[in-house]
Amino acid sequence: MGLDDLLKGVQTVAIICNQWGDTGKGKFSDYFASQWADVTARGTGGNNAGHTVVVNGKEKIFHLIPAGISNDSSGQITVLGNGMVIDLPVLSHELGELDAERITYNNLMISKDANIIMPYHVNRDKAKHQSQKSGGIGSTGRGIGPCYTDKVARRGIIIGDLFDRDKLSRKIDRAKETYSEQNINTSEVIDQLMPFAESIRPFVRDTVSEMHRFMREGKKILLEGAQGLLLSIEHGTYPYVTSSDCSLNGTASGVGLSAKMIDLPLGIVKFPFMTRVGAGPFPTELGGRRSEDYCAEDGHTKIDELTKYGIDHQVTDKIVKYNKNDPRILEMINSGDEFIQGIGIRLAAGEYGATTGRPRRTGWTDAVVAKYAVGINGPIMVLTKPDSISGAKQFKLSYGYKSGDILPVQIVEDFSRDERSLREVDPAYQTYDGYGDINGVRSYDKLPESLRKAIGDFETFTGGKVAVVSVGADREETIVR
Ligand code: IMP
Repeated sequence: MGLDDLLKGVQTVAIICNQWGDTGKGKFSDYFASQWADVTARGTGGNNAGHTVVVNGKEKIFHLIPAGISNDSSGQITVLGNGMVIDLPVLSHELGELDAERITYNNLMISKDANIIMPYHVNRDKAKHQSQKSGGIGSTGRGIGPCYTDKVARRGIIIGDLFDRDKLSRKIDRAKETYSEQNINTSEVIDQLMPFAESIRPFVRDTVSEMHRFMREGKKILLEGAQGLLLSIEHGTYPYVTSSDCSLNGTASGVGLSAKMIDLPLGIVKFPFMTRVGAGPFPTELGGRRSEDYCAEDGHTKIDELTKYGIDHQVTDKIVKYNKNDPRILEMINSGDEFIQGIGIRLAAGEYGATTGRPRRTGWTDAVVAKYAVGINGPIMVLTKPDSISGAKQFKLSYGYKSGDILPVQIVEDFSRDERSLREVDPAYQTYDGYGDINGVRSYDKLPESLRKAIGDFETFTGGKVAVVSVGADREETIVR
């Protein structure tokens, strides 16, 4: 069975992360965009996200434009939806990259209703939320939070406003009060925005009506999620979240659809380890608070860690190359010190932020989180990256949280968003034997027994169904059950 079999009779697919982002949505978005979809659409977030798109054989990291853009010349439509927040210079930079590679974007549609990330949003975000050291949540510093704040406060500036100079000017004047710490000069801001406005004008649409038309016409639609369920403003570990609802519901409404209209919602789950970037509780984090603080400090980039732990590497054109199977890395993963184990997994799996380059915090996959995600995003799961820890002597999954000092210890099996309880609990782990190389495995039955056992237990606990297991970055390295 291949991915195509999953798609029989399906008009709409959504690729949504069921953890804290960075689960490998890109591989599946790219697959469905290049083989199947007529339309790829994004409904939430902005340039806090990052995904790699291969254009003309070169890897480019895009933050706003969905992966489907590389199929524009064959008529595929790409939509930046109403729920997004758009930084115009960043969008213009990405369009410039496409121009340079001679990739067309004739079928790009930008929602007239998407909010614009203004320069004062970026300044505010950097000053207030980016630095974890000074109590911030460790935002990406891209202005996402302040922009959504203005949206909810009904004073946001939307793409459509760019074409009404008086209205735009009035709205920027009003922002002076909210952003009084900054010296906003209305005409300067307008002068900065205008060239971008003109360049995107041909692509601005009422994308909600367009999406409704695509549905009526039977076009195959792919929704590309951003961030992840546990970063959702509605369902995530509040206040350590992004400012949009990146669940299936929010992603669908961010393009003008209902989650009910999505035939195949795929919840992406990194397995058997998971990651988180930025501050906030993460019950299964290897090394606990020490790891959280360490990942927040400067000076722990990929190069720093490779150097510190004596792993051979080369740097060319800012690209760091090293052997992820270096025996030293495996030694770290098998270390008795959880903090070192966490660094080993980060190095083996290359877990450094695509947008910020920050080291991602690592821990074992938490079935309690996954069960919660099944309740919101639906039962169908895609497991990614189990190949990254091949060679580990053992791995663990958490099936509950031990809580309370009173004996007997209670095991909680439901996820709660309460920060204090998430920080205080001890995961109730089940340990499984490790496995060797699985990159070449193409059928589920050929996966190592311990991995299949873990997947079976995980399905039973979460009530979900694992439809796909990804065993490598390449498209072929995919097992469909
Ligand atoms: P913001 O979205 O920049 O406001 O950041 C809020 C929180 O979400 C921070 O902890 C970020 O590290 C995290 N975050 C935002 N975007 C992503 C993403 O694409 N992947 C993983 N974490 C993200």
